[in-house]
Amino acid sequence: MIASAPGKVIIFGEHSVVYGKHAVVSSIGWRCYVNVEKSGDFLITSEFGKTKLDFFGKHSYISYAVKRFSEIKKIRGAKITVKSEIPPDSGLGSSAAVTVATLSALNAEFEAGLSREDIFSLARSVEIDVQGIASGVDSFVSTYGGSWIIPERRRFKTNLEFGLVNSGEKSVTSEMVRRVADLKKEHPDIVNPILDAMDSIAVKGAKCLERNDLKEVKKLFRINQSLLRALGASTPKIDGIIADIEEKGFAAKITGAGGGGYILTTGYGDRISIGGEGVRIEDSEDWRISDNGQG
Ligand code: PMV
Repeated sequence: MIASAPGKVIIFGEHSVVYGKHAVVSSIGWRCYVNVEKSGDFLITSEFGKTKLDFFGKHSYISYAVKRFSEIKKIRGAKITVKSEIPPDSGLGSSAAVTVATLSALNAEFEAGLSREDIFSLARSVEIDVQGIASGVDSFVSTYGGSWIIPERRRFKTNLEFGLVNSGEKSVTSEMVRRVADLKKEHPDIVNPILDAMDSIAVKGAKCLERNDLKEVKKLFRINQSLLRALGASTPKIDGIIADIEEKGFAAKITGAGGGGYILTTGYGDRISIGGEGVRIEDSEDWRISDNGQG
């Protein structure tokens, strides 16, 4: 059975959302597709290669997804094949998307009867299994799709358009989340007010997005990026790219954990459609994976 799930952008609130602050997130048009077939043992195939269950290697999210699923419905084996349009280590939620799509395909293939909320909850556990700390926003938006204000789970709509620019550097979520946690422990008096300010940006940002107020959104992007930089989530390369984008008259910020990955802009770069669909069970005609997983 084939399932797919979308990637996401965090428009406001990365890092602070880990500490219970507001976040404004949206699914994007880029998706991850996972095919699951019943089998006697486990075989995972993706652009990273072929492995068996591989908890600490290339396929950690998929392996933990299988483990969590097996706690609900025991399975002997599965052939799992992945094709993703979402660049890995990019801040665009590729890990959550592959987790959600794997769980959904397992659910469909083995007829476990899990609801969307069950899928989200399992995916969130997998994120924590692999990363240690996680807010769960990635799994949430990948499961449900659309544009959301968290933690209220309120949907929003905007007509504003966004773009993505690749920094060319890798973003390793677990490492960045740990770095912010360490800084918070070391300087709570400085970091806590930054997280509070990010919370206000997300709350105001959501309102500005809903009234399509580009001028205000640009201002909030700039403040948010400065604060993310203060937390150590930017890099000299990202700062340089953002300076260039600013010169062209746009605003830009990190999206996701930072330290690399993609930069979200108010229009410049690869245009993305925000608010894409959540989990989908695909017709086999939609299956675009060749046998060796290379597409
Ligand atoms: O880098 P990504 O796409 O995995 O996003 C991480 C977002 C953080 O807020 C930094 C962490 C989290 O769990 O919310």
